[in-house]
Amino acid sequence: MKRVVVLTGAGISAESGLKTFRDSDGLWEGYNIEDVATPEAWERDPALVQDFYNQRRKSVLAAEPNAAHFALAKLEERYDVIIITQNIDDLHERAGSTKVVHLHGIITRSQSSVKASLTYPIDGWELKMGETCELGSQLRAHVVWFGEAVPMIETAAQICSQADVFILVGTSLAVYPAAGLINYVPRDVTKYIIDPNLPTVGNKRVIEMPYKATIGVPMLVDELMGNNK
Ligand code: APR
Repeated sequence: MKRVVVLTGAGISAESGLKTFRDSDGLWEGYNIEDVATPEAWERDPALVQDFYNQRRKSVLAAEPNAAHFALAKLEERYDVIIITQNIDDLHERAGSTKVVHLHGIITRSQSSVKASLTYPIDGWELKMGETCELGSQLRAHVVWFGEAVPMIETAAQICSQADVFILVGTSLAVYPAAGLINYVPRDVTKYIIDPNLPTVGNKRVIEMPYKATIGVPMLVDELMGNNK
């Protein structure tokens, strides 16, 4: 089976009602990264950080996968599909995708604040201050903050280097190391980019699809599945 590698960003979940980060009215227009998404913020005011992710978890649990998530799940009927996502929502999994690599963690799990590899499921939307890991340290959202290591980046680069088809959906490519992954895709592999505001990638064999995810992804999946007779 041919391997399709998909790198997704906040744009694929926008039509599920989850805010992106850098669009107008994006999440970072309402909050300062330094106040809610860095280790220093956690040191300074853990309850504020905890509440920020509790509110986002509430929105994620209330959201539903959209046609783009479902189309990528359907693609598994014909291809070996691996999704590398920058998103911390679980919409790919809820749509039925079976191989999802979360570069920046996943908000439905917690992690020990002293040992990141200790993670636990969260029941419901609220992770309370005072909930501790087996080592007795405060639990925090299992997400990668700015300035923290991205443990899955080597795995993701390896996956990209073995792509037969590469699809980029809904990311501004503003944040590294995720933004550098496209450079691991072999030059002769076709790279589809689906985004109403196409990010520029200095790469050959790029096919630009200036559409919203719920239009562009099903369209491309139909083409790849050979449904466009
Ligand atoms: N369909 C497809 N793409 C869309 C849609 C849509 N309906 N709406 C917006 N987009 C595109 C925007 O044009 C933009 O290119 O999604 C992208 C969103 O970019 P960002 O808000 O920067 O989100 P992302 O690229 O995922 O950010 C990467 O930055 O803040 C950190 O950790 C955070 O994982 C995040 C990382």
